[in-house]
Amino acid sequence: MKKPWSGRFRQRTSESVEAFTESISYDKRLWKHDINGSIAHAKMLAKQGIIPARDAESIIKGLKEIATEIKSGKFRFSSQLEDIHMNIEAALAKKTGPAGKRLHTARSRNDQVALDLRLYLKEVMGELISLIIKLQKTLLLLAEEHISTMMPGYTHLQRAQPVLLSHHILAYVTMLQRDRNRFEDCMKRTDVLPLGSCAISGTTLPTDRQFLAKELEFREISGNSIDAVSDRDFAIEFLGCSSIAMMHLSRFAEEIVLWSTEEFGFVELSDTFTTGSSIMPQKKNPDVAELIRGKTGRIFGNLIALLTVMKGLPLSYNRDLQEDKLPVFDTADTLRACLSVLNEMLSEMRFDVKRMRSTAGEGYSTATDIAEYLVKKNIPFREAHEITGKIVLYCIAGEKSLDSLSLSEFRSFSPVISKDIFTLLDPAVSIKSRSSFGGTSPSEVRRQIKLFKKILS
Ligand code: ARG
Repeated sequence: MKKPWSGRFRQRTSESVEAFTESISYDKRLWKHDINGSIAHAKMLAKQGIIPARDAESIIKGLKEIATEIKSGKFRFSSQLEDIHMNIEAALAKKTGPAGKRLHTARSRNDQVALDLRLYLKEVMGELISLIIKLQKTLLLLAEEHISTMMPGYTHLQRAQPVLLSHHILAYVTMLQRDRNRFEDCMKRTDVLPLGSCAISGTTLPTDRQFLAKELEFREISGNSIDAVSDRDFAIEFLGCSSIAMMHLSRFAEEIVLWSTEEFGFVELSDTFTTGSSIMPQKKNPDVAELIRGKTGRIFGNLIALLTVMKGLPLSYNRDLQEDKLPVFDTADTLRACLSVLNEMLSEMRFDVKRMRSTAGEGYSTATDIAEYLVKKNIPFREAHEITGKIVLYCIAGEKSLDSLSLSEFRSFSPVISKDIFTLLDPAVSIKSRSSFGGTSPSEVRRQIKLFKKILS
């Protein structure tokens, strides 16, 4: 197949080089963005009198036909034509003859590919933001449902203080809110039109880039053509935002894995979201959660891959940049899949409320309440901490729980302790009293629920 750039060459490209340099096998998924970009470009060229209006019409008609062929699977992609841009351009020339050969006026594949990737990422980030919102909504429903479910809160994976399950769930809603905001922010820097920068330095032809921006719905136009064809910051940022979001999903997935163990017994995953073992008949494995955790490695890898591709590149476009697409596509696909499967899994997950509640008060989890009780009796906190530590040690030695101690036992550690100590050993009381802003008290949890309901509506 004749290449659009073959004029300067005497010999044809070797087959191994064609196989090595092609990107059509994966960049074909940019077809829609490539065609939309070309349609806008053709309109602009005609409007500016750079090409005849009739040629623009047949270009646009031809491109629309190609879109239909690709959609229906009839289009034949060729790796001899390297990439999506040349595949479509060659098909257009075949359809329209001379008209199609005018499309690439005042354009280069360098600004074309930058445009396609930006259009693609704008679309993807829009989808990801919707999926994040959907997941937040599912979590918010769970938070509302479990407004009175107590559980042990952990630090160092040791029981720390009793908390509301709602509060724990809302921590993820809060994390996801930042993830969403990060994508929205990245969107601003992605929403910049590179088309019209041409190969590196612009063009001698009287183009209208404002018109292109309007047609393709870009908020801004790139102001430096060298930067525009060589910049992939927006893609790196996308991979960064995705990595942070995946890290959050992975932490959640890890908790689901832990919580579904017999040791924790906090949740039961539905049969539809677990798998069995080929040898151990009793097993029900949390593979979906494990795979979300596992796929996070690849997402981080994709970020490092593109950063590494970019770090040694001289300005401006270099073919290395073709390596931007696989990590970007893989991250988009993976994050999309993880967000939606997690959402589905959560709707089918059952919390063992009784088990959570019964463990909430175990492990001396109200010890901090005793220390703060002593502070209220005017004992300096460090001293209160020491006294409470001694009480706990005494309980451990005697295999007793805090609420089984008698008043005289308590008083042997500090004379300021009186009968009212017993009211605060109940985890429900402990939770209710943590009413500082952002704390786990039901009133504070309700405040968060109200806030997110407003944000997500
Ligand atoms: N397939 C190429 C890429 O992904 C398109 C741009 C090629 N430009 C060039 N001058 N060879 O980056």
